[in-house]
Amino acid sequence: MNTSSHPLCISPESPWLAPLAGYSDLAFRLLCRQHGCQIAVTEMVSAKGLIYGSPGTSDLLQTSPEEKVLVVQLFGAETSFLVQALERLKAMGYRYFDLNCGCSVRKVVKTGSGAALLKNPQVLIDIAKNILPIAGPGCMGFKLRLGWNTGDNAYLALAQNLEQLGAAWITLHPRYATQGFSGQADWMHLAQLKQELRIPVIASGDLFSAEDALRCVQETGVDSVMFARGALNDPHIFHRYQQLQKNTPSIKTQEEMCLAAQHLYALYCQLNMQKVGLLKMRTLVPKFFKGLSNAKAVRRHIGSCSSWAEIQQVITSEA
Ligand SMILES: Cc1cc2nc3c(=O)[nH]c(=O)nc-3n(C[C@H](O)[C@H](O)[C@H](O)COP(=O)(O)O)c2cc1C
Repeated sequence: MNTSSHPLCISPESPWLAPLAGYSDLAFRLLCRQHGCQIAVTEMVSAKGLIYGSPGTSDLLQTSPEEKVLVVQLFGAETSFLVQALERLKAMGYRYFDLNCGCSVRKVVKTGSGAALLKNPQVLIDIAKNILPIAGPGCMGFKLRLGWNTGDNAYLALAQNLEQLGAAWITLHPRYATQGFSGQADWMHLAQLKQELRIPVIASGDLFSAEDALRCVQETGVDSVMFARGALNDPHIFHRYQQLQKNTPSIKTQEEMCLAAQHLYALYCQLNMQKVGLLKMRTLVPKFFKGLSNAKAVRRHIGSCSSWAEIQQVITSEA
């Protein structure tokens, strides 16, 4: 395994796939890469879990030579585990890293990790001081939300500090941790962050279509965009966004999503993950078909499918 030979070029033409716990596994990343994703982030990996060899951690780190630029996202609140995890990952050949400072899920924040770090900026700064030299220049970014509570815009001072300490990029999901996914992502903060930093700023938040992403770049001046739920609903979104930059808009079709689903299942099979793959397909396929004429039928029937053949029958039938 070696992800080290390819430089990480951050530009508006090179869209990212977000870290998506439960979804951005190797198969889904490969699918997105075939449709224009340039930089992909793993699901979040617990630094402590990695050091203690927790079951499932190695699956999260699965990669392949086709993954030219892979960013491994870590979460944790204890410097010693994060330092050891980075050392281990570097020894394994991984080159680019991200620290999750935005996850607001209870399981994560109760350990002081994820968005809880925004409540304790000094803890995050101390962690950054220790981990950035290990990651090395140009190799580590931080994914932030605006702050913990509404109106607490911790991100600006934090991002400036992180830049001074050697962070290579900042990703901002402009919602507060207590908001979860409610309300709207406030892109105004992306514009503000972009004005304050010299390092690249990556936008996350409510990028549901190629049009959203292009508008976000134009309105805020961010250096790149990161698709999350938008990619789950349409793995072709990366290519659509790149085409839209050339003034060639497109919308998803049933045929495209059938092929995407087939392709994804084939990737799971190639990776010897048929069983897990089938379970994942049952949650992903209804997302792929969201907004299409047979969406309702797909949602209604997918739960009772126990084989790929049955899923295929559901997705190819007309509304
Ligand atoms: C199912 C799901 C899983 C996610 N997992 C992670 C994660 O592991 N790490 C992380 O930093 N953010 C995670 N996020 C947040 C996304 O990366 C992204 O910042 C957020 O969804 C906002 O983008 P969107 O509104 O375009 O979806 C997750 C979001 C979703 C919907």
